[in-house]
Amino acid sequence: MAEETPLFKVTIDNETIEVPAGTTILQAARMIGKEVAPPAMCYYGKLENTGGNCRTCLVEVSKGSEADPRPMPKLVPSCRTTVMDGMVVGNKTSERTVEARKGIVELLLINHPLDCPVCDQAGECKLQDLSYEHGAEATRYEFDRRTFPKEDLGPNIQLNMNRCILCYRCVKTADQITGCREHGVMNRGDHAEISTHIHKSLDNEFIGNIIDVCPVGALTDKTFRFKNRVWFLKPVDAHRDCPTCSGKAQVWFRGNEVFRVTARKDEFNEVEDWICNTCRFDKKDINDWVLEKPSEISKDSVVRQGHYFENKVEPKETLPKVIKRDPKILLDIHSVSEVNEPNRDLSKIDGPATSKDFKD
Ligand code: SF4
Ligand code: SF4
Ligand code: FES
Repeated sequence: MAEETPLFKVTIDNETIEVPAGTTILQAARMIGKEVAPPAMCYYGKLENTGGNCRTCLVEVSKGSEADPRPMPKLVPSCRTTVMDGMVVGNKTSERTVEARKGIVELLLINHPLDCPVCDQAGECKLQDLSYEHGAEATRYEFDRRTFPKEDLGPNIQLNMNRCILCYRCVKTADQITGCREHGVMNRGDHAEISTHIHKSLDNEFIGNIIDVCPVGALTDKTFRFKNRVWFLKPVDAHRDCPTCSGKAQVWFRGNEVFRVTARKDEFNEVEDWICNTCRFDKKDINDWVLEKPSEISKDSVVRQGHYFENKVEPKETLPKVIKRDPKILLDIHSVSEVNEPNRDLSKIDGPATSKDFKD
């Protein structure tokens, strides 16, 4: 009989959970919920052997385990550290973690351009969210940023290397789901860059998924580039009968026009089902899709601003009952205050109005 995996008790930001041995701190935090989960720019749960590159998921371990309660001297990457029984971890509740994350954001932004106003990722960019939540308001970096020419990786994908944070997610995705590795990280240190070795195109039928896993706007869909901003679009869960993939996708509409098609993502912004290039790049007609329902949009996303809600319940209007008059009257101050009566017309007063101008 197979041995049962023991359960370990771990406490993260004062929330305790029991998880199987071998679970990482990040996975345990995600099991507790989004509120305590550390940010992750390189770890990707749907892929193997990811994480350990960006350091955004650092946490403080203030008690190593029940058997050895000493704290860990350094902050640890939660995506690569497995839990021990009785471990106590500080994420948002740890001052050291919050301070370190500020430094990590500054480092990630050292070479990053101020492209947000023209970047297709704006509005759904994890680096934007990270900078907003943890970043400093200014950079101390005084040198020129690294710049690279834009590179077409095949007919449908464009690489803007200036925005890349070298998280390796696209490399692992191409490696693990397309079965043919045609691009990778070239060179070392400050010269490291994502590229195809001899500028070959990436044309595997599932290669479009590297756009979805990229946490920033380094890999963009050329059929959607500069066409619209994500917060003007309405994502809808839809499917089609596809011979290559599951055909389950998210179709982004403005009116009846399909602007882009992406894979559906879960609450941690990770792809649920990989989709093929045909579904992603070629099926841009409403009749290509069977629409299911408006996609769930996380509360903190700007895409939600133009979103419609299912089963929306309007709260009852209580103000008229309380003030016993039509609240619109409050908006029409002039008819109530009579300040625009001919003898008090403010435009006829010399100089700035004073309280005397309002006295009878
Ligand atoms: S990748 Fe994100 S942070 Fe960078 S320019 Fe685009 S939206 Fe802004
Ligand atoms: S292109 Fe995107 S996914 Fe690939 S390494 Fe750079 S940031 Fe990561
Ligand atoms: S998410 Fe853990 S190091 Fe990047």
